[in-house]
Amino acid sequence: MMNKEVLGNVMLDEETIAKRVKELGEQISADYDRDYNGEPVIMICILKGASIFAGDLLKKLTLDARIDFMAVSSYGASTKSSGVVKINKDLDTSIEGKNVLIVEDIIDSGLTLHYLIKSLWGRNPKSIKVCTLLDKPARRKVDMKADYVGFEIENRFIVGYGLDYDEKYRNLPYITCLE
Ligand code: IMP
Ligand code: MG
Repeated sequence: MMNKEVLGNVMLDEETIAKRVKELGEQISADYDRDYNGEPVIMICILKGASIFAGDLLKKLTLDARIDFMAVSSYGASTKSSGVVKINKDLDTSIEGKNVLIVEDIIDSGLTLHYLIKSLWGRNPKSIKVCTLLDKPARRKVDMKADYVGFEIENRFIVGYGLDYDEKYRNLPYITCLE
């Protein structure tokens, strides 16, 4: 791994991200009002990458919105193709009978979410939807479509606004890529 990585130009600036997050919040609020009138929605923020996005999105929901957190990691190189993920931090609350909105930073191969969704259905929620800030459809290894997508992007390695390279750059208020 190089330790002098070079950042590219700003791909999505603060204003562009804020505008899109507001739109997503409005759309999600309208959809849930229509489909699950008045019922609580439990946002599941996938740590750590989605933390900044989830916080900003939560503020734009005009619903009975709650938030809980999960941290997952790939189970090691040998099982990578099977997409088995390890839960490093589980939810604090039960999702049985609840409307769940998974909030992710980016969908790449789709393996993490594919596995996670399957596993969360085992807890008998009423509904599961997915909102991702970024989507890299070119990289997909399994059929995985989010209900809400902030931005579709080309196949670059993205950092900023919560996304990291080796734990760095999560603090950037904009989104850029490694050159
Ligand atoms: P997937 O299982 O391949 O979809 O991997 C998704 C996870 O890998 C995301 O939640 C990110 O944490 C990480 N990831 C994938 N692509 C990027 C990227 O371009 N920048 C930073 N993290 C990424
Ligand atoms: Mg992630």
